Amino acid sequence: MKKILITGGAGFIGSHVVRLFVNKYPDYKIFNLDKLTYAGNLENLKDIESKSNYKFVKGDITDAHFINNLFQEEKFDSVIHLAAESHVDRSISNPLEFVQTNVIGTVNLLNAAKEIWMGNIGLPTSDIRPHLFYHVSTDEVYGSLGDEGLFTEETSYDPHSPYSASKAASDHFVRAYFDTYNLPVVISNCSNNYGPNHFPEKLIPLCIHNIKNNKPLPIYGKGENVRDWLFVEDHANAIDVIFHNAKLGSTYNIGGHNEWTNIDVIRLLCKIMDKKLGRAEGENEKLITFVKDRAGHDLRYAIDSTKLQNELGWKPSLQFEEGLAKTVDWYLANEEWLTQVTSGNYQKYYEQQYVAR
Ligand code: NAD
Ligand code: TYD
Repeated sequence: MKKILITGGAGFIGSHVVRLFVNKYPDYKIFNLDKLTYAGNLENLKDIESKSNYKFVKGDITDAHFINNLFQEEKFDSVIHLAAESHVDRSISNPLEFVQTNVIGTVNLLNAAKEIWMGNIGLPTSDIRPHLFYHVSTDEVYGSLGDEGLFTEETSYDPHSPYSASKAASDHFVRAYFDTYNLPVVISNCSNNYGPNHFPEKLIPLCIHNIKNNKPLPIYGKGENVRDWLFVEDHANAIDVIFHNAKLGSTYNIGGHNEWTNIDVIRLLCKIMDKKLGRAEGENEKLITFVKDRAGHDLRYAIDSTKLQNELGWKPSLQFEEGLAKTVDWYLANEEWLTQVTSGNYQKYYEQQYVAR
């Protein structure tokens, strides 16, 4: 049985990747390594937690000793690395935590993989495809676009926030391990995701939560910033395709050609939720509140995913309107999940459970 380590599998995107791999590949043993920070939630994986090819491991990727022991013990065949601090606003108030998890944590994993796959002298091998270190990254490493153009795999890195700077640094380390030690790696850089299980601090789930509770919808600046939205299951499918088919050492951009200004996203969301909540047309839009802009706020992200589409045949499955309506339905049907992830107690409950085992 192939042993695949997925880090950050209790988080938003990680939980969709874990579910996909556990269900689609019964002959893989999927290990989900997660620290269960405020963003990690095992409720996201309730439906698959009893499957025999799934195992949860609670642990911190910044702890090199723990990571090395785990790799020596389990001898993972491959790694899909998603664990990260992921929220730009938090990175502005606490950049060091982002360096620790996103940079040091990634280097710890690279070192541990190098040790078990290649020995500590980093011998190049001719047959290294059985192993893969897949690093999941963001388009924010490319910086900000003006009105024109798209990020391609050749766009120079130009990160602006502490979050994107930490992800850029981790990408560079992954490439450095390929160039220096021939560690078999691949990187993907994806645009903004949305969908079920998204922690309600990010724009879309925060606004769904606030609309439901008749609270203000905080729009930074004038709401003119543009993001390129992709449904999270489409990202998980892209990761599957890249994991199994990518050329070693390569990079793929992932995105759905789906650019929206923030204000238009929120207007659309208000409209969808007017109907779903049985409110008068235009009622929810009254909640829109323009607030102070984010420091260093990138104006526009937009991804060119032609390489992934042409080389590996991936394409997004959902239109934004459809995906957003599906997302709203999920949040309305999962009120308990929302209450739990926002209460703080839930985290402690699971921590106690897993420490006790
Ligand atoms: P998330 O914040 O929802 O989840 C992150 C997960 O990592 C959580 O389960 C958390 O508990 C875990 N984690 C954090 N620190 C850890 C540590 N020190 N040790 C072990 N586990 C730890 O993030 P997400 O939105 O699911 O993003 C996942 C990955 O995808 C990240 O690497 C992010 O940079 C990347 N990405 C995200 C987006 C997006 O739109 N959300 C887009 C492109 C790329
Ligand atoms: P976010 O969901 O934090 O993702 P990212 O910063 O990684 O793109 O934010 C998406 C966009 O929405 C971004 O331009 C910032 C903006 N935004 C708001 O206007 N209000 C908010 O409360 C939040 C969280 C984000």
